[in-house]
Amino acid sequence: MLRLNLLRVSAVVRSPSHFSAHPIQAKQRPAMGSLSYTTSSKPSSGDKLLFRQLFEKESSTYTYLLADVSHPDKPALLIDPVDKTVERDLSLVKELGLKLIYAMNTHVHADHVTGTGLIKSKVPGVQSIISKASKSKADLLVEAGDKIYFGDLFLEVRGTPGHTLGCVTYVTGDGPNQPQPRMAFTGDALLIRGCGRTDFQGGSSHELYKSIFTLPKETLIYPAHDYKGFTVSTVGEEMLYNPRLTKDEETFKNIMENLNLPYPKMIDVAVPANMVCGLQDFSAKQVEAVSN
Ligand SMILES: [Fe+2]
Repeated sequence: MLRLNLLRVSAVVRSPSHFSAHPIQAKQRPAMGSLSYTTSSKPSSGDKLLFRQLFEKESSTYTYLLADVSHPDKPALLIDPVDKTVERDLSLVKELGLKLIYAMNTHVHADHVTGTGLIKSKVPGVQSIISKASKSKADLLVEAGDKIYFGDLFLEVRGTPGHTLGCVTYVTGDGPNQPQPRMAFTGDALLIRGCGRTDFQGGSSHELYKSIFTLPKETLIYPAHDYKGFTVSTVGEEMLYNPRLTKDEETFKNIMENLNLPYPKMIDVAVPANMVCGLQDFSAKQVEAVSN
């Protein structure tokens, strides 16, 4: 059975962004809707949401582009960008006439370097976002319950620790003008028919088991990775078919302790770079500028 650990809002996060009319806001999580079950992989949001799922093949990472195209400025954000595909992502943003305002991560990745640093150096004004619990640096640190607005659309932040201490899931808003079904960007907390490993970065199978969230069954699941070619799932599907999370906690812990996975090959490079979520390139550039 999937369970939800509802984290309470502990602080208001105010966006210093001069762009968004709606700053990041901390708010009590609204009650879940009770929509009928569907397996549709196409969220309907009228003509507001532009959504693209992008893939980086070396680390099998998905980057997500979301924008409010009904807003005059077409504000956009990227979730989990990868350094190697920043050029592609930014050309797409440009081609579509979007204004990128946020580059955000679901957690401190260990298998690739985030693209936030490169993005910030190429697109002035973009702000990096990561959870406060990750203990990383970023322009904006978010907590469970916070809302991240881009135009009239928003993402809610939910705490889903266990793969790492600071993992969060970003979920599209609950409201009449927000995408339906809702879309959950789960990072590595919940993968399609799997979940992230729990043996590094403060991981804990107990925490992961507790923190895997419940949302309406029709909620679309968009993970940070897929290694088999799957692109999307739903909460309902994972409740039925996820081979790990359908087990009781003891069995789940046992599975996670016996995965015998190799040491993550990028961890020693990726984690230090990702702990500064985009800020390292900025300071490097500034140092360069001063010394040249
Ligand atoms: Fe990860």
